[in-house]
Amino acid sequence: MPHRLSILFSVSEAAPFIKEGGLGDVAGSLPRALAARGHDVRVVLPRYYAIDRELHGLKLLPGALVVPMGIIGDMYCSVYEGRLPDSGVPVYFLEHETFFGRSGIYGADNEGFRDNDNRFIFLSRATLELCRMLGFRPDLIHAHDWHTAAVPIFMNTLYRHDPYVGDAASVLSLHNLQHQGNFYPGLMDVLGIGWEHFTHLELEKDNQTNLLKGGIHHATKISTVSVGYGREIRTPEFGWGLEGVIRERVGDLVGILNGVDYAEWDPENDPFIPAPYRADDLSGKKLCKQELQRRFGLPERPDVPLVGMVSRLVAQKGINVLAAAIHRILELDLQIVLLGSGEPWTHFYFSDIAARYPLNFRCHIGFSNPLAHLIEAGSDFFLMPSAFEPCGLNQMYSLRYGTIPVVRAVGGLNDSVENFDERTLGGTGFKFRALTPDALVDTICWAVWTWYQNRAGIDALIKNGMAQRFTWEKAAEKYEQLYYWAVEKKLGWEEFSKRFP
Ligand code: ADP
Ligand code: GLC
Repeated sequence: MPHRLSILFSVSEAAPFIKEGGLGDVAGSLPRALAARGHDVRVVLPRYYAIDRELHGLKLLPGALVVPMGIIGDMYCSVYEGRLPDSGVPVYFLEHETFFGRSGIYGADNEGFRDNDNRFIFLSRATLELCRMLGFRPDLIHAHDWHTAAVPIFMNTLYRHDPYVGDAASVLSLHNLQHQGNFYPGLMDVLGIGWEHFTHLELEKDNQTNLLKGGIHHATKISTVSVGYGREIRTPEFGWGLEGVIRERVGDLVGILNGVDYAEWDPENDPFIPAPYRADDLSGKKLCKQELQRRFGLPERPDVPLVGMVSRLVAQKGINVLAAAIHRILELDLQIVLLGSGEPWTHFYFSDIAARYPLNFRCHIGFSNPLAHLIEAGSDFFLMPSAFEPCGLNQMYSLRYGTIPVVRAVGGLNDSVENFDERTLGGTGFKFRALTPDALVDTICWAVWTWYQNRAGIDALIKNGMAQRFTWEKAAEKYEQLYYWAVEKKLGWEEFSKRFP
């Protein structure tokens, strides 16, 4: 058994309580996998309105949490405690009417809330104050994305000598570098750490206060959600202007591919699909395809290749390229179903495409977990033409469901999908490199040609894919190693070897 660590996750979403994308999946699964390895893991997140206190059996803790907000003054919140399902992992929910008593996590109608700066500085600062309230001395605090990037900043400044977290190391995970928490300079006064930190070396970027940049500078260690993304973000193409500070910290940066919660994503046991199936008996998958076609009002043809997509409809996901290529793609004898929501133009655009091509294109604008499962199970191919993809989870779900991914070779997509090799029948999917409509159309043509002309190839791809496993156990082992490095770096070797002999 490794030495037991005390770890606090500070994060803006966690499944099953609240989720907008893959970050929620990660924050719901990784703590459980770490707890299963014997660590004392806890999670703190806001109690958004959408989180039902009764449904999740949340209990109010006695007392109030005082959260100093710099120039704004002290703010207060109450704290509810719950548990991640099927685990003993405590989750602390911060209850604050002004900041979190509204629908939406980050914004409404595709616009971020105006007070997101204060909302997430509040979450970050409350994370540290919570340790005092609970009498909890973590060895390490794990922050995620810009929303809690202020945690490592505070730890290195105002909390340097704090009796609860002064000794703790920090890890900042980068799930998406596009969103950086870039705000007006005066936000420095809400942070209250002193203007000497508003420099190009630390928090200042383009004369703004950039929380993610500050977090990258201050975290003891940094991680990205795939090895490939960890390399890409050192370049201007993927670094979104932070490639400089990332290169500076490259010695402390580790890439760890996300895992899949195979209890939730398992075609042998999935309450959201009409028939279970496994690699050596795919008859159930045929029924799932039929049900998917029926649900979306497509002709119920078993012979036609059905391509699924479940995605936030934003530029990151290559949606513009798909929009440009869609007419040429729909000339092929295939069907496409799309589930997602995002930029308003996409809702009109794809609904219009559905009206024009009723026999082979259908979309559902919205968010639906049951439908996401049915699409994974009922499709033959799964399309992810992302402009960038730090990890991506759907391609890994697809592999498990025998649904062949067609992906752009970036970030985690490139790391988790192996290109089809027609000679050896090796590989798990179809990949393309250029972010252009031509490359996308070309690769879909290749997949569709393989479907109609090379059944042995398709069978091999399905079999190879279904045998892949991206487990959280494997990822948790790597995080554990990263945590030890971080704690050792923070404490120094001598103190570290005393505490963890
Ligand atoms: P990202 O976090 O960038 O959106 P990921 O692939 O990491 O991308 O994770 C997306 C997660 O959100 C997956 O679990 C996916 O199934 C889910 N998801 C995305 N859009 C929808 C939707 N419209 N309905 C249901 N689930 C969705
Ligand atoms: C982000 C990324 C996605 C990743 C997820 C979880 O939302 O866009 O690629 O899978 O975080 O790490």
